[in-house]
Amino acid sequence: MSDEKAMDYYTAIKKAEKQLHRFPLISVRNVPLMSLIADNFENIWAFNPHPSDLLIATYPKAGTTWTQEIVDLLQHNGDAEACKRAPTPVRSPFLEICSPKPIPSGLDLLKNMEPPRMIKTHLPFQLVPPGFWENKCKTIYVARNAKDNLVSYFHFDRMNQTQPEPGPWDDYIHKFMRGNTGWGSWYDHVKGYWAEREKMNILYLFYEDMKENPRREVERIMRYLDLSVSDEVISRIVELTSFKNMKENPMTNYSCVPAPVFNHEVSPFMRKGEVGDWRNHFTPEQSNIFDEDYKEKMKDVNIPFRDHI
Ligand code: A3P
Repeated sequence: MSDEKAMDYYTAIKKAEKQLHRFPLISVRNVPLMSLIADNFENIWAFNPHPSDLLIATYPKAGTTWTQEIVDLLQHNGDAEACKRAPTPVRSPFLEICSPKPIPSGLDLLKNMEPPRMIKTHLPFQLVPPGFWENKCKTIYVARNAKDNLVSYFHFDRMNQTQPEPGPWDDYIHKFMRGNTGWGSWYDHVKGYWAEREKMNILYLFYEDMKENPRREVERIMRYLDLSVSDEVISRIVELTSFKNMKENPMTNYSCVPAPVFNHEVSPFMRKGEVGDWRNHFTPEQSNIFDEDYKEKMKDVNIPFRDHI
């Protein structure tokens, strides 16, 4: 079953090969989105979830896949085989993603699934279809410190052949600071969900906390979802969702998305999975420039980000 589903996805991408290229970003309400998404935004905005659907929202590269796997395992009482029924993007559709046919869009996949569904989005708060809030859907937001998030996105833009070229590293830092990357400004994204977390009952998590004490964060997610699993199952989930295990698991490592979308030879999807890798990329001067700009952009909020643990 799992192999078939992975193969369907893989084959669809191979079939669409000639229509795939690095799509430009087009602004939707001042947020740059991949052109295919921007062109279909009305349909995305109109999506009406079921109250039992769960939304997992992140800025790209903040730990989405990791969280999706933890949630799926919690919902299946730690049953690893059940969570190998299909690759991540099929088990947990990416709401806004649109690709050339025959690759199914997020909305296509959702149409064929019964609620409760686990839905992924990178949309900033203000672009999330209002039905999620009207229907009081539970929402988990995962945030990652800006510098590591930027590094991860840089490598992802190198390997993802459908996003704009990242260009040289130094230029990319400035692009990120200006909010000119897909899904827009990291600063606005993390602040947007932070401001709404209490009113909308959003569970706001940090990648660094998950690295520091995965057990504590898995338990936090369990409680939020009103689930109860044994201590032994929690331990199993922590083990199954370690970076090493998810990198080796074909259902979580995005090997289902081949070139010409993801070129894993340029940089693997499961790249490093660490806190503080930014130190291997930023020069002291780049770091100072970034920090100055960060202070200014984040001066109106106090979100407890950590760039080391
Ligand atoms: P790096 O590029 O820093 O390695 P997303 O799923 O939102 O696209 O995020 C991908 C990032 O999360 C990548 O970061 C990836 O390696 C990391 N990641 C994925 N699974 C992980 C896990 N189980 N533990 C730690 N990091 C993980």
